[in-house]
Amino acid sequence: MNGYLDESNFMMVKEGFTTRNLLENLLVELCPASDRQALFMADLGDIVKKHLRFLKALPRVKPYFPVKCNGSEGVLRLLAELGAGFACANKAEITRVQSIGVPADKIFYSSPCKQVAHLKYAASHGVQLMAFDNEVELSKVARSHPRARMLLGVTADSSPSAHPNMAFGATIKSCRHLLETAKEQAVEVVGISFHLGSPGLEPQAFEQAVAAAQLAFEMGTELGYRMHLLDVGGGFPGTEDARARFEELAAAINSALDLYFPNGCGVEIIARPGRFYVSSAFSFAASITAREEAPAEQPGSDGRCLWPPGHPHPLRPLLLCPQRCCPDPPWHSSSLCGPAGCDEDRIADGLKLPELHVGDWLIFEDMGAYTIAAPTPLREGPQPHITYAMSHLAWKAVQLCQGKLPQTEDDRERVCAPLSCGWEMAETLSIAPVFAPAGII
Ligand SMILES: Cc1ncc(COP(=O)(O)O)c(C=O)c1O
Repeated sequence: MNGYLDESNFMMVKEGFTTRNLLENLLVELCPASDRQALFMADLGDIVKKHLRFLKALPRVKPYFPVKCNGSEGVLRLLAELGAGFACANKAEITRVQSIGVPADKIFYSSPCKQVAHLKYAASHGVQLMAFDNEVELSKVARSHPRARMLLGVTADSSPSAHPNMAFGATIKSCRHLLETAKEQAVEVVGISFHLGSPGLEPQAFEQAVAAAQLAFEMGTELGYRMHLLDVGGGFPGTEDARARFEELAAAINSALDLYFPNGCGVEIIARPGRFYVSSAFSFAASITAREEAPAEQPGSDGRCLWPPGHPHPLRPLLLCPQRCCPDPPWHSSSLCGPAGCDEDRIADGLKLPELHVGDWLIFEDMGAYTIAAPTPLREGPQPHITYAMSHLAWKAVQLCQGKLPQTEDDRERVCAPLSCGWEMAETLSIAPVFAPAGII
């Protein structure tokens, strides 16, 4: 073990629990006088399972987890223990992962827009791998971090509408000029990076992007750079309701890699999967502190669903209320607001919910991605309360990983074995894991 995570960081639970079951147990036990209004429950074993799934589907690709997706301590410690790297957007995220002991060579300062002070911080803390996609960033790096190893961020398609989330990245046309400018400024370029955006990615988008990356690799090589690192970004789905399954996207990436960057070509491949790792691992519970019956003309009160017909609302809260459980309660069109209660703090409108009372708890599943940021000076205030849980089998798999990514098929089998007798087998046989009431050991 690498010492990032130990048994004091989580509660060990029996196989077969779900975060929802654990939350329900926790809330029933919560003292009525408690002032806790909201809490997360995280199944670290779900992240272990995702990691093994990632390694199996993309054996050539090393994951760098984007800290902005979930900066919670349990997630960072677990992923460090499993040997993952980290993609950081700023100095605060670098500090955060270094504070738990992650070495600088496992950190990718991936934001294409960097403050000079943050660049200097990276330089003085040994973080060398970073990305750029324009001349302004290049000259900042040349001045502030002469030892940086740069990935040039590219877009796969010249029409911005093709990937509306892809806010960054140089077009293939501008790559040669940027690489020449880097050469003039003595900046070392080691590879190419792209991020296609998420969610709803189609497999062909990856094929197109890997092909574009290979063109940029050739330009770099022609200019005398030793190009040896390709970053295929993030965007992999975190839940099973996505348009393309993770394995489908992985198959497209693998075939594109075989075509454009075949095994043995000397190019190392990395990715930045965020939501894939953490979405399904977290459930969130929030209590109702106040309620108001709105007049019919207000949004959410008129039975109008603000979501297109046939599309389930992305937020699907469940009411935890054993004492008032009734199989078919009357539904009310409802709006949920955060603590400020103002328009800007509106969480959802047009939800169909049973009548809610002060003190009721709502449970939201799949809440692990982009819900918990690493604390920064700009984001002060109380951090959300998170309880981490993991089963014995998942913990055994973590111990077998020992911080090293299994390289060979044999290594991968050895690490996956403890979990394959549980979840993986249930998956293969299409049997939902049997729910055993979550006994907390
Ligand atoms: C530049 C960059 N890389 C990686 C990610 C991770 O994306 P995802 O969580 O969809 O995998 C994001 C998400 O916004 C991003 O902006």
